[in-house]
Amino acid sequence: MSKNPQKLGGAYVPEMLWDTLRKLSAEFESAKKDAGFQSEFQDLLRNYSGRPTPLIFAVRATKDLGGARVYLKNEGANHTGANKITHCLGQGLLAKRLGKKMLIAETGAGQHGVATATVAAKLGLDCVVFMGSEDIKRQRPNVFLMERLGTKIVPVEYGSKTLKDAVNEALKFWMENLDTAHYCIGSVLGPAPYPEMNRYFQSVIGREIRSELMDRQHKLPDAVVACVGGGSNAMGSFYEFIPEKSVRLIGVEAGGTGTKIGEHASRKIAGELGIFQGYKSLFLQTEEGQIAPTHSISAGLDYPGVGPELADLYTNGRVELTYATDAEAVSAVDYFAKLEGVISALESAHALAEVRKIAPTMPKDSIVVATLSGRGDKDLFNFARAFKDESFRDFLKDEYDRY
Ligand SMILES: Cc1ncc(COP(=O)(O)O)c(C=O)c1O
Repeated sequence: MSKNPQKLGGAYVPEMLWDTLRKLSAEFESAKKDAGFQSEFQDLLRNYSGRPTPLIFAVRATKDLGGARVYLKNEGANHTGANKITHCLGQGLLAKRLGKKMLIAETGAGQHGVATATVAAKLGLDCVVFMGSEDIKRQRPNVFLMERLGTKIVPVEYGSKTLKDAVNEALKFWMENLDTAHYCIGSVLGPAPYPEMNRYFQSVIGREIRSELMDRQHKLPDAVVACVGGGSNAMGSFYEFIPEKSVRLIGVEAGGTGTKIGEHASRKIAGELGIFQGYKSLFLQTEEGQIAPTHSISAGLDYPGVGPELADLYTNGRVELTYATDAEAVSAVDYFAKLEGVISALESAHALAEVRKIAPTMPKDSIVVATLSGRGDKDLFNFARAFKDESFRDFLKDEYDRY
């Protein structure tokens, strides 16, 4: 649909979807101006998800790092434990306005699936989640939770049996059920209007950071740091500050285990312009232009593409991108757990790793805010493996025997 070939984003989808996307776009525009929609959305954010989320002053980390004052915007305090529920709630309300009866989603690690299943249950919508059969095996705890929430899980048995195959299957199902189903996309990506729509819902993060800091410090932050998978928590944190040129906006990608293709998921290292899953942006690609394999210890950052608005801000120099390795992320979890009593999700720990690098280089009266996109409960098994916790293995064995 894009007339300007340089423009990122767009909606590169089969013609069958155009009308549905146009209607979604129109509904989104009218909902933004509708006081009823706004009050219902705000009510759910406040009284269901638990907003505003706290802005934690990391006193001991600040002292230890010896530079900027470090603040953590704790999106992990949201219902379901991450920022994701915000755009699921927004989309769920839009789906109802459009007369849809069902939310569909795809999920890899299961996080977006759980958020969508939760919102569907809350709003009285049916829910179908597509998942590669390999991912189903690896993510039994989240599959179990989705089932308890009343969601139907559809295993995808072809290709690599992981996330990208689940996306294809979800799109196929959507095209067969356009009148009844809304496709709930889990980040600021996909065809227009999804990137703008999800960023609009998530931008509450940045607005809260501004007002919480203004109340307590009477000034803007000097830097805002957020991890970047597709970019929803980063765009949500950054959007408010884009016009404030004094505020550095730093996105932290998955540096994985190395800089070769297949060892990381950093579009800064190797992202190239491409079109995939309905939008134009930066993607990790092979020599032949196929989507390249990626790696990250955190499932949520292990994705080859990045939201088009974020890619645009990076290309134009407003947003800086950098990366943290798997090892740096694990170490950052440990550091902030011991010093601040905060157990971060592995995704968010990439942002925390960057804070450990930059805070000591910043003046003492400066402020760095890191968005803690999610809490670490979901990573319990990963942590136990990363910290080589023998007792945890014994515990699992005992659990198995008790079953
Ligand atoms: C806790 C957490 N943080 C970050 C991400 C990455 O997504 P995004 O870049 O859209 O915020 C995910 C994705 O699942 C996540 O679960």
